[in-house]
Amino acid sequence: MLEKVQELLCEVESFSPKSIEELEVFRIKFLGKKGVMNDLFAAFKTVPAEQKKGFGQALNQLKQAAQRKLDECKDFFENTEDDGEKIDLSRPISLDNLGSRHPISLVRNEIVEIFKRIGFTVSEGPEMEDDWHNFTALNLQKEHPARDMQDTFFIQKNPDVLLRTHTSSVQVRYMEENMPPIRTVSPGRVYRNEAISARAHCIFHQVEGLYIDKNVSFADLKQTLLYFAKEMFGEQTEIRLRPSYFPFTEPSAEVDVYWGLESESDYRITKGTGWLEIMGCGMVDPAVLRNCGINPDEYSGYAFGMGVERIAMLQYGVTDLRLFFENDVRFLKQFRSTI
Ligand code: DAH
Repeated sequence: MLEKVQELLCEVESFSPKSIEELEVFRIKFLGKKGVMNDLFAAFKTVPAEQKKGFGQALNQLKQAAQRKLDECKDFFENTEDDGEKIDLSRPISLDNLGSRHPISLVRNEIVEIFKRIGFTVSEGPEMEDDWHNFTALNLQKEHPARDMQDTFFIQKNPDVLLRTHTSSVQVRYMEENMPPIRTVSPGRVYRNEAISARAHCIFHQVEGLYIDKNVSFADLKQTLLYFAKEMFGEQTEIRLRPSYFPFTEPSAEVDVYWGLESESDYRITKGTGWLEIMGCGMVDPAVLRNCGINPDEYSGYAFGMGVERIAMLQYGVTDLRLFFENDVRFLKQFRSTI
């Protein structure tokens, strides 16, 4: 008899119902009027006097265990059912926890889309580069002083393995693999060994542009840049080109957009001139074309390169570059867009 009670106790302890119906079957079996407990209490009368104490205790234990199990499971089902009822499927979704794209991705996508609209393809290259693609093919031979313009991270003291300092390396790769006509933009991350401040970072992003065909002229470059500036900053935007120097282009120029001098901050960011530099550009140096297997007597082209952070700072009025890298959600969640 006692063994039977022990067995039932095990059954009670290990019982785990999957539905409220299953629980009801359990209740009827153990605690119902015609249930196991009642049978056992009836049998109690026939137990010899000397076993009554032990058997009585075991019976009580079983009854309590069955009651406890019933209460626990009931509680569980009632609470989960309650939760189920609280879900109102007709409620509009909450926008609070929706993710958003990083502002750098947004601006990069916008730049790329603008160029795609006039027939540019998108190309990418490795962030870990060799000397040829990052420097030598771009007319920056070893010991060239202009290499100092871009402080470089080398990998494992090997001068031929480095983190690219600009996306101009992608134009070399693209020209090596494709014949003109070429029209491509290359967005990507670049690295420079610079102290981190509000205006500089050791990691940033650029978009490189390259156009190679027969009879490409400086006028084509100017018109493309003007189109870009108007698309990016608005129809009224004016640009100006200032002569500059890059080893891979000749002639070279820096491109400014007219930002205006309306507020104090306009004065500060344009250093009182009203003009803001947004990129470097020029006609691809014939030596670079030759290095990449393109005949400079047959083809000419232009190239440009811009910093995505720079444009994002202008676009969103962000004054500290470091905000783009800290990934503070309070900053990031202000940027919502569909592209
Ligand atoms: N690579 C240059 C830099 O990182 C930017 C640049 C200037 C790219 C002129 C070009 C160019 O393609 O023609 O500062």
